[in-house]
Parts: sequence; C-alpha cells; structure tokens
Amino acid sequence: MTHLWYRGQHHRGMKKSARRIAICKVSDVPENGIKQFDADGKSLCVLNGGQRYFACEAACPHEKVPLCEGVFDGESLTCVEHLWQWSLVDGGTPQGLAERPLQMYPVEVVGDTVYLKG
Ligand code: FES
Repeated sequence: MTHLWYRGQHHRGMKKSARRIAICKVSDVPENGIKQFDADGKSLCVLNGGQRYFACEAACPHEKVPLCEGVFDGESLTCVEHLWQWSLVDGGTPQGLAERPLQMYPVEVVGDTVYLKG
C-alpha cells in the first residue's frame, strides 16, 4: 500500500512542478506600466495590461533602445525611438512601422507575484 501511495504522490508532484521563476511583485508595475527586471539570466520588461501581465525582451529589436521607456496602452507596446509597435495580446506581432516581431516570454501571476514560466 505504501508503495502505491508513493507512486501516486510522485506523479501528481511531477505535473505540478512546472518550472517557474519569480520576476517581481504585481505591485511593482502600475497598470499600463512597463518595468525592466532581470530573471533567468536575461533582462526583460514586464508590462501590466490590467487584467493580464506580459513580458518581452528588454531591448528594442531595431536599435536596442530600452523598451521600458516605451509607451504601453494595455495591448500594444510602442518604442519611442522610431515608433516600431507590437501587439502584445497577439504575441509580439509587428504593427505599423515594425519590421520584426518582439520576443515575448510566458508569464503567470500567482498570488502577488509575477512568474516567468519555463
Ligand atoms: S530603436 Fe526602437 S524603433 Fe528604432
């Protein structure tokens, strides 16, 4: 009996143990705000879209200007340098002048913390 119980617990534990790395607290990023953090060996921007958080590469794929200085309306991010723009709700799809997609990272909020999902 003990052996069977152990195996069941082990399998349930495996399903729950997806890799997750804390980036910041939800309160660190105001609504429609952008802040830069380091997590999992990379710099990234966390964006608060109100009902949803996003994370993307920290430097603009055009000329590496910090995207935390960009403009975010809750759905789209615009780099202020040359106005490249991406839809974050569509996974970093280029809009307008942008010629390349934006690297996005999957995140989830658990409690008061924003996590990078591995
Ligand atoms: S550096 Fe961002 S659009 Fe040119």
